[in-house]
Amino acid sequence: MRKNIWPLLLIFFLLGGLVVLLIGQVVLPPDPRPETVQAISLNWSSSGHSDRESFSFTYWDQREPPEIPANCAKCHSTYGYLDYLGEDGTEAYVVDNAVPIGSVVNCLVCHNPVAHEKDLTLFPSGAEIDGLGMSANCAECHQGRSSNVDVTAAISGLPEDEVNEDLDFINIHYKVGGATRFGDDAQAGYQYPGKTYDGFYPHVARFQACTDCHDPHTLLVTPTECAACHPAASSFATLRDIRDPSTPDYDGDGDTTEGVAYEIATLHDLLHETIQTYAVEVIGQPIAYTYSNPKWVIDTNNNGIADEGEISRDNAYPEWTPRLVKATYNYHLVVQSSGAFVHNPRYAVQLLFDTIEDLANVVHVDMTNMVRPE
Ligand code: HEC
Ligand code: HEC
Ligand code: HEC
Ligand code: HEC
Ligand code: HEC
Repeated sequence: MRKNIWPLLLIFFLLGGLVVLLIGQVVLPPDPRPETVQAISLNWSSSGHSDRESFSFTYWDQREPPEIPANCAKCHSTYGYLDYLGEDGTEAYVVDNAVPIGSVVNCLVCHNPVAHEKDLTLFPSGAEIDGLGMSANCAECHQGRSSNVDVTAAISGLPEDEVNEDLDFINIHYKVGGATRFGDDAQAGYQYPGKTYDGFYPHVARFQACTDCHDPHTLLVTPTECAACHPAASSFATLRDIRDPSTPDYDGDGDTTEGVAYEIATLHDLLHETIQTYAVEVIGQPIAYTYSNPKWVIDTNNNGIADEGEISRDNAYPEWTPRLVKATYNYHLVVQSSGAFVHNPRYAVQLLFDTIEDLANVVHVDMTNMVRPE
């Protein structure tokens, strides 16, 4: 009898070991391993930063001489960014020279001694924000090219509703999420005097820096990481359904369950409509927005949209008042901050609310149920 217990014990231990192994595989995640350089390179190749065909990197190809001017090169080439960092031995925080065409946002943009140590971003408003770590690089390129300061200077001392031939649309440029994120601290938006604006939107400690949310190589966020706290966001498609239960009904439409992105979208649409009413009633010429240049055109047939035939430099909206310059600046800023619902939802709502309210001084808009975050 005694002899027979050993094979049984052996089977018992073997089975036990197997069960522990299986549980280990299912319950405990494998050790985190840094991604391989191959995997990282593939990720980067899938991103906009490597897109050689993009307008962002080909716009200057047909120029004579074929080079990227110093004031564009920082964000549109590797050479320009290295010059800006001072990594090429020239002064930092300025691009000294035009650079060759043909580069994208290469590995070297972020992986060089200066970029690794970088902690501070300089914004077009003149604001310097530090403590950002490597994300300070992201905000250097995703900050636009103008700010509250430029708009304030352009309209200073001019009567609000008088057309002035020195005025024109002020275009903050593209994909400016890195500035919107910091709100009043960076002053990307036109901020109405007498109002207060939110600064940096802290969100939560673990998801605060650019690369806490954006993979630095694919540039994508991982919705499943968000879903841990926001069950609404299980996929890219549902990211915009995220809403903090304590968020008020900013747009006043009675829907307190829609994602905060849709609160912003309703106010944004209303701002476009209000700009159109202002253009007709105060200036006497219909206007419409287009994603293409020159952004604001004469809506010749007054159908509310920029039709194909209306989109051309020759049809650029010609009559600008200070009130219109401010409103169109903030409208386009929000178009170019499609991540604002995450980056700084309260700042976006404040800008939209105040812009609509300013137009409401001279045209009729119903703002009865709208809420400004204070
Ligand atoms: C602060 C950084 C920055 C500077 C400086 C800058 N750009 Fe850009 N630009 C961007 C970013 C970011 C985009 C976003 C591209 C996109 O749409 O994905 C962009 C997009 C563009 C595009 C493509 C727009 C489109 O419709 O796709 C053009 C053209 C362009 N910029 C021209 C210029 C020119 C000309 C200058 C200099 C006078 C300039 N940029 C300076 C950051 C910058
Ligand atoms: C836009 C900026 C940017 C670009 C471009 C970029 N990286 Fe990175 N990379 C980062 C940041 C930010 C990190 C993360 C550092 C951290 O986690 O603290 C990183 C991390 C890494 C790591 C370490 C990964 C790990 O798991 O620890 C490697 C290796 C790497 N990058 C290689 C590359 C290569 C190769 C390219 C080009 C194909 C590239 N990177 C392009 C910003 C960038
Ligand atoms: C040297 C300038 C530069 C730096 C630094 C930079 N970017 Fe970009 N980024 C760009 C340009 C230019 C584009 C547009 C590329 C294109 O047109 O395909 C872009 C595109 C993007 C996009 C895609 C936007 C969209 O909606 O298509 C995201 C997201 C992004 N960058 C995030 C980041 C993050 C996060 C970092 C830091 C880890 C960073 N960027 C650093 C210049 C830069
Ligand atoms: C650890 C929990 C946690 C994680 C993970 C998290 N969030 Fe949040 N998020 C919060 C909290 C708490 C708030 C409310 C904070 C506040 O407004 O002060 C919030 C607010 C937001 C809001 C604004 C909602 C509103 O109504 O104003 C958005 C949008 C958002 N998060 C998106 C994201 C995205 C995208 C991710 C993933 C990249 C993410 N969150 C990951 C906890 C989290
Ligand atoms: C809390 C998470 C979170 C943080 C932190 C964050 N982003 Fe984003 N970002 C997002 C999400 C989500 C989107 C929208 C993606 C989409 O449209 O599907 C976005 C969109 C963008 C875009 C394209 C649209 C836009 O608004 O410009 C850029 C560029 C961008 N982010 C850059 C940055 C930079 C630079 C930082 C740091 C200063 C940053 N992001 C910080 C989550 C985040």
